[in-house]
Amino acid sequence: SASMPHEDGIDHTISLMREGYLYILNRRRSFNCDVFETRLLGMKAICMGGKEAAEIFYDPEKFQREGAAPHRLVETLFGKKGIQTLDGEHHRRRKEMFMALMSPTNIKELADLVKEEWISAAKKWEQMNEVIFYEEVQKILSTAACRWAGVTVPEDEIKNLPNDLEALFESPAALGPDHWKGRNARNRVEKWVGELINQVRDGKETPPENTALHRFSWFREFDGTLLDTETAAVEVINILRPIVAISIFLNFTLLSLHHYPEEKEKLKVQDDKYAKMFVQEVRRYYPFFPFVSAKVRKGFVWNDFTFEEGTLTYLDLYGTNHDPKIWENPDVFNPERFADWEGSPFGFIPQGGGDYLLGHRCAGEWLTIEVMKVSLDLLVNRMNYEIPDQDLSYSMVSIPSIPHSKIIIKNIKLLD
Ligand code: HEM
Repeated sequence: SASMPHEDGIDHTISLMREGYLYILNRRRSFNCDVFETRLLGMKAICMGGKEAAEIFYDPEKFQREGAAPHRLVETLFGKKGIQTLDGEHHRRRKEMFMALMSPTNIKELADLVKEEWISAAKKWEQMNEVIFYEEVQKILSTAACRWAGVTVPEDEIKNLPNDLEALFESPAALGPDHWKGRNARNRVEKWVGELINQVRDGKETPPENTALHRFSWFREFDGTLLDTETAAVEVINILRPIVAISIFLNFTLLSLHHYPEEKEKLKVQDDKYAKMFVQEVRRYYPFFPFVSAKVRKGFVWNDFTFEEGTLTYLDLYGTNHDPKIWENPDVFNPERFADWEGSPFGFIPQGGGDYLLGHRCAGEWLTIEVMKVSLDLLVNRMNYEIPDQDLSYSMVSIPSIPHSKIIIKNIKLLD
């Protein structure tokens, strides 16, 4: 078989940090190949992107997650022994636990909570000179997430929680103090969520049955045992943290309304279908989750290239969403492209690809879309606001990326 194109040199971590979201895409272009070999973080690694690459990446016969996640991600973003590190039937059982929360009724409940919290916050914004949208939305999402998950937040944590959850998804790529901020936040939140789980098991706390806290506290492994407290806490946080992370997409939603005022006018008169198309384009266009990693489970050959057992492999999410072989004018913001989108599980992968139960595709994707839709409606139809001059640019290198000003809004007025 042929040898894969590869980057010469001892290590390319610096290039990755310099080129960020574009690192894999740039090399796919220059090698004119969807897959290449390099060295990252001192290890041989395969990088790939595109629809066909996504298809093999999500084949559980070819790739596994056990031992694939970098230590620093586990210590901040994921937590130990969480679903992201499982394979096979154990993964499937755990994934069913998550997906059971994602019924349309349950999702609607979260969207309603977000709306309620948003309107009550906006009443305060009306009295303020200006607000920082990113921070305000994190408070809204953090409160709504805890209510939805059945989680009572201890008095002395309430003020800290949005920051702690934010630190979990902002710190993984960080070095130095910001990385430690994420680890400390994780230790703190895991501790009180763990105590809450013990209280549920002791009958001292009784969250409603359809909540994450109830379900995860009573979830049983194949052998009938409950999850150990730490793992159950990790999974409850796997619900709270990413709901707060929707704030990133909401910042980009607001930015897109600002940059494309004609779209805002369209959204005022169009139906639910257009709102969904708009939300899909926000998820495709803006940078958020850059890539995911797995390890070759058993050596195989694909398109004549050999994948050796154990090789760390990265799938480019951002680059697949911007692949000119899949998307016409990928660097143009155009919700209309979703009017007749064919719905492939591998070509549009802002939250991972493949199948929800058989693979690691994001458990919260439908939930994210509904929270974005309800927020879009609030921004377009339920409030007036102004965006004063500020630095709205965003980096293509920092992960995650948000507009530098975190978007300041003023003269807020709730309508009807
Ligand atoms: C997994 C992105 C929101 C829960 C993932 C993955 C990505 C992702 C890229 C990994 C896919 C893979 O490993 O192949 C996002 C983004 C979100 C978001 C960009 C926007 C804020 C959510 C929400 C929830 C959630 C709202 C739950 C309430 C999960 C869980 C997993 C996951 C539990 C692990 C799935 C598994 O390993 O099987 N997400 N996510 N995510 N996400 Fe999300």
